[in-house]
Amino acid sequence: MDYKQQVADALAPALPELEMADILAKIEQPKTSKQGDLAFPTFTLAKIMHKAPQMIAGDVVEKIDQTNFEKVVAMGPYVNFFFKKADFSADILAQVITNDAHFGDAKLGNAGQVPIDMSSPNIAKPISMGHLRSTVIGNSLANILTKIDYKPVKINHLGDWGTQFGKLITAYKMWGSEAEVKADPINNLLKYYVRFHKEDVDHPEMDDEARDWFKKLEDGDEEALALWKWFRSESLKAFKKIYKRLDIEFDSFKGEAFYNDKMAEIVDILESKNLLHESQGAEVVDLSKYDLNPALIKKSDGATLYITRDLAAAVYRKRTYDFVQSLYVVGNEQTNHFKQLKAVLTEMGFDWADEIHHIPFGLITSNGKKLSTRSGRVILLDKVLDDAVALAHQQIDQKNPDLANKDTVADAVGIGAVVFHDLKNERMNSFDFNLEEVVRFEGETGPYVQYAHARAESILRKAGNPDLAADGHQLSDPAAWDTLKLLSEFPATIVRASDEYEPSVIAKYAIHLAKAFNKYYGNTKILVEDDELNARLALVKSVSIVLKEALRLLGVKAPDEM
Ligand code: ARG
Repeated sequence: MDYKQQVADALAPALPELEMADILAKIEQPKTSKQGDLAFPTFTLAKIMHKAPQMIAGDVVEKIDQTNFEKVVAMGPYVNFFFKKADFSADILAQVITNDAHFGDAKLGNAGQVPIDMSSPNIAKPISMGHLRSTVIGNSLANILTKIDYKPVKINHLGDWGTQFGKLITAYKMWGSEAEVKADPINNLLKYYVRFHKEDVDHPEMDDEARDWFKKLEDGDEEALALWKWFRSESLKAFKKIYKRLDIEFDSFKGEAFYNDKMAEIVDILESKNLLHESQGAEVVDLSKYDLNPALIKKSDGATLYITRDLAAAVYRKRTYDFVQSLYVVGNEQTNHFKQLKAVLTEMGFDWADEIHHIPFGLITSNGKKLSTRSGRVILLDKVLDDAVALAHQQIDQKNPDLANKDTVADAVGIGAVVFHDLKNERMNSFDFNLEEVVRFEGETGPYVQYAHARAESILRKAGNPDLAADGHQLSDPAAWDTLKLLSEFPATIVRASDEYEPSVIAKYAIHLAKAFNKYYGNTKILVEDDELNARLALVKSVSIVLKEALRLLGVKAPDEM
């Protein structure tokens, strides 16, 4: 049932001055349940009618048919509606129990395909916390979009091409050894790379050599290619281990190198449309009318660039997926790059450039400091996950020493905690990473939400996992009210998260629901034999279903016991 509409229907006869759409748009959620369940503010009306808002609220209440509500009262300038709790509860609990994990599914996307460019780490470097953000935000957006009937395509646009490979080959030839790389590829390749950047300050000739090696690579030189392939496959193996731990799968690993033979066409189109200009020996597209710097398409030595590969990738994705939207989950430091990308595509005459969306996010810092591969100040993700799981283990040992499958649960809790922490922060906010905070069982953490879910499951087990009928669960207990209302808000919450490309909307919702449920549980004896026992159990079951589904949308597991 649509409660907002019900309120609007009741208001309409009393407000002939307003259109239905206006009424609907004004109805809001009061701050506390004491002020009712939905409220209508009369300020705008007061302006039109030149009357005090309080008076209008009083008049409106007089004119309203209250049959469908517990009561309707004027409170200051507001008309406040109180729902019939028993009916509302029966309605919402029936919806959740009948639909189970499908509660909140919606047919909004018409199966339209949505490529999501996500994770996209760079070969020969460890996956950074920044790439973790891209990975988990992208994965969650994919889950959210799937729930409302889009078809996401998760693409890992590996950084497997570019001048850095010239640097890496140079460094490897100076200091590297095959044995070392084989023993610990990522760390040793990183070591060479970091050393390159320390030493090229005093030895600029190293940079020339690096440029030569990259040029050779682009020209298909055998030695360069063999080294590149080897670095790539070793790195990919290491990345895949991490994706496995996060339980995240990709539909494509087509990285930058895949577009090597697809850039000529882009350059041709640009040339045929007279968009390429020479500037200091390089080929650029002028973007001054977009208030952007020129896009550098080809360097003076003919080497192609990051954006050239992205242009080819954008066109390839349109042709391959005929997408309705194309998303790029990439840090906000690349905002200009994506503006340029869209602008060049628009100049090329591709109207679908409008469907390209950069989904930026803020930095993760450590003790307030920026992390960077070049400086060697990195947090290694594998290590973070190990530490998180170890911390989860400790806490489970204290709280529930006899728990079966402790390892599996500690994995779900530790890794889930890291993922949840990342997603509960609004995308654009930067945040500091502190593992102890992240894995706490209290506070606004993943384990806290998981724990609420496990508690709900444990109550149901104690009750003998009853087979609850789908409907008829009239729950009049006021203590249950906040929880019931939150349950009813889940479908709209999913849509909002998807409209804003913002998984934090779901994470915050999950925290609210867990809090409301814990409060209810703290104040109410659930397992007592009375008329409302089944209704209370239906509420517990519904909370379990919705918390688990909210966590799933975030890519976090919900163990039944912990
Ligand atoms: N590899 C890049 C980096 O680590 C991110 C790539 C993002 N995707 C893209 N299509 N440009 O900064």
